Amino acid sequence: MKCAIVTGAARGIGLATARQLLADGWKVALVDRDAEALETDAAVLGENARTFLCDVSDSDQIDRMISSVLEWTGRIDGLVNNAGVADFGPIEETNFDRWRTVMETNLDGVFLCSQAAAPALRESGGAIVNIASISGLRASTLRVAYGTSKAAVIQLTKQQAAELGEFNVRANCVCPGPVRTKLAMAVHSQEIIDAYHDAIPLNRYGSEQEIANVIAFLCSEKASYVTGQVIAVDGGFESTGVGLPALRA
Ligand SMILES: NC(=O)c1ccc[n+]([C@@H]2O[C@H](COP(=O)([O-])OP(=O)(O)OC[C@H]3O[C@@H](n4cnc5c(N)ncnc54)[C@H](O)[C@@H]3O)[C@@H](O)[C@H]2O)c1
Repeated sequence: MKCAIVTGAARGIGLATARQLLADGWKVALVDRDAEALETDAAVLGENARTFLCDVSDSDQIDRMISSVLEWTGRIDGLVNNAGVADFGPIEETNFDRWRTVMETNLDGVFLCSQAAAPALRESGGAIVNIASISGLRASTLRVAYGTSKAAVIQLTKQQAAELGEFNVRANCVCPGPVRTKLAMAVHSQEIIDAYHDAIPLNRYGSEQEIANVIAFLCSEKASYVTGQVIAVDGGFESTGVGLPALRA
């Protein structure tokens, strides 16, 4: 049975992804630093799911987590680097601590988890799916740290695809548009929510499940010739260019 690691799996997009992969017949290692939320998952997800407490910004914890997953399943076929934090603020108020807090999870975490899982992924011919954001594709105010971390994840994905392809390891990136998770609701005011609805061709937020569907596809054999790609799952937001609400019929 194939095994996927999903980071940031205690809630939101990560939890929806873990559920989808379980439904698709994978074993799933749910990784998060939130012990309480992880315990709630563990109680309901069944015998093919295990939880692993780990902060993805800490390389020692990551090494222990990868060893524990391998003790459990003996293989890693998929790595979904989903754990992320959001902190929106103006450039001059984003002090180095705030910058580092965003980078250490959103960027360092993706680098470190992928590096630690790489030997097992090479053995299985597995797949990496990194979760960036539309904020990594298009710049916006208040996202100097968050947007930059996500743009870096997009480039990191391409580096991984270029280098790991010869070992039959694929690496792709999913850029979600807005989804009503705890992360988004902490930084999206009602005004921001309304503006997103206006700017998105499908006129709404996405659901966790809609993002999970694409992540699960990229992990699967159905995507066996897809690597180095960046897929926005965003209701058309990224593609619209001058999609000004005022130009609508
Ligand atoms: N929700 C959105 O609108 C949106 C849009 C674009 C991109 N994203 C990205 O999707 C991913 C998931 O976001 P979400 O909205 O589901 O967020 P969420 O806050 O609901 O869930 C994130 C999970 O990651 C965990 N986590 C955070 N830092 C961690 C760390 N260092 N180590 C281990 N676990 C950690 C949290 O405990 C939490 O369980 C993030 O990378 C986020 O940037 C979200």
